[in-house]
This record gives sequence, structure tokens and C-alpha cells, in this order.
Amino acid sequence: MLTPGGVPRHVAIIMDGNGRWAQQRHMPRYAGHRAGVGAVRRTVEACGRKGVQVLTLFAFSSENWRRPRKEVGTLMDLFLNALGSEAEKLHRNNVRLEVIGDRTAFADALQARITEVETLTAGNTGLHLVIAANYGGRWDITQAARRLGEKVAAGVLAPDAIDEKALQGELCLGRLPEPDLFIRTGGEERISNFLLWQLAYTELYFTEVLWPDFDEAELDAALAAYRCRQRRFGCTGEQVERLRNA
Ligand code: IPE
Ligand code: IPE
Ligand code: MG
Repeated sequence: MLTPGGVPRHVAIIMDGNGRWAQQRHMPRYAGHRAGVGAVRRTVEACGRKGVQVLTLFAFSSENWRRPRKEVGTLMDLFLNALGSEAEKLHRNNVRLEVIGDRTAFADALQARITEVETLTAGNTGLHLVIAANYGGRWDITQAARRLGEKVAAGVLAPDAIDEKALQGELCLGRLPEPDLFIRTGGEERISNFLLWQLAYTELYFTEVLWPDFDEAELDAALAAYRCRQRRFGCTGEQVERLRNA
């Protein structure tokens, strides 16, 4: 789905390569994460300017708890600080911030700040910025299934009313347009338990660029590649062309 000008409505990004960026410079890994915050700022601003409606950024996966405790602590501190320092600016720029993932695992101060920024920006109508933190695609599908199970147990949902639409409605991002374009920086070509259900028909784009180096020119390259794709959703190329010309 395109907004005018061929810009995808929803862009989802795995921001990878912070650690390697730092190692290449003989710096500790956290320096890469810190530099990554700059790339987040640039990308949010560029997406806002280009008319992208939803930007989902993978900041911390449910598997990233496996990293050394010190690195996890640094990432949490960065998240807390960035939410504090960027909130007013996001709000001024009409950005609506939403955090998806299991936030109950976070420290109370971080949970409180997330709620604060979500509340502050809830009425904004510009870019919808989604931060996936302690998020996992399998967790997402599991929590959706559990909620449906609860409804069945409460007698408000018949088991045979469970269809794709019902499950989708319980997923994170269920009410937003599905991602049109997925970008992964850092050279790895895998999904790493990001949006498993939601990426079913998303165009995938992988780049070697390390996340702290990602900028508007790199985003433009991804958007240009996206414009060259033909999205068929199971149809034939001829059908798609006929629909486009109708
Ligand atoms: C992505 O960068 C940030 C998070 C996963 C939080 P990495 O820290 O994974 O960087 P590399 O992949 O080790 O270079
Ligand atoms: C994916 O990156 C998670 C985030 C960017 C938040 P990882 O660096 O954790 O992914 P793997 O471990 O290489 O698959
Ligand atoms: Mg990585």
C-alpha cells in the first residue's frame, strides 16, 4: 500500500550492527548503541518528512536478555534517557509514540516513563512511531492466542469464531496497516523473531550498512528499491498490472 508519491505507509526496521560499528572503532559496544540513538532520530525525522504513516523500530528483542548483564543495563539506561530527552521534541513534531512488547519485565521507572510519553503524545496525528522493546514475534502471537482463549473461557467468543481477523485483532499493531517495507541493517538476512505474523507480505530489504551509519540517503535507497517491487499478494503479474491500470 502506498501513500501518494510511492512512499510505503508502514516501514519496519531491525536496527542491527551497533556492536560491530563500535568494535570497528575500538570502542566498547555501548558506544555503538549510543550512536544508534542518533540514527533513530534521523530516521524518525526523515520518515515524518516523507509522509510515512507508521514507523516500527526493533529496539530490544525478547532474546536480547541473553546478552551480558552490563550490556542489557546500558541498553535499558539508554532507552530511559532517550525517552526522557526526546519526548518533548516528538510531541512538538506531532509524533505519536507507542511501545510494543512485554513491558512488565522493565524496571518501574522505565515502565512509568513509557506510559508518560505514550500519554503525552496519544493525541498526535503525525508519524506513528512504534518502538518494539522486549518484543518477540512468538510472544506476540502467544499473547494474542491467550487473549482469545480467555474470551472463549468467559463465554464471549465461540471457538469457531476464531479466524485470522480475530487473531490479528489481538496482535500488537493489529489495527495499523501491515508493514509494507522491512529494512534490516547490519548485513544479517534474518527476521530474528521480529513481527512474524505482520511481515507475511512485507517487502524485505537488507543492507550491509551498520545502524549508527543509517541516514536519509540509506533510507532513500531502501525506498527506491521498494518502488521497483511488484507486490502480487498471490495474484499474477498480469492481474496486478490490470488492477493498476483500471
Ligand atoms: C542492534 O545492534 C541493537 C540491539 C540488538 C539492541 P547489535 O548490538 O546487535 O549489534 P551487532 O549485531 O552486535 O553488531
Ligand atoms: C535483532 O538483532 C534485535 C534488535 C535489533 C533489537 P540481534 O542482533 O539481537 O539479532 P541476532 O541475534 O543477530 O539474530
Ligand atoms: Mg546484532
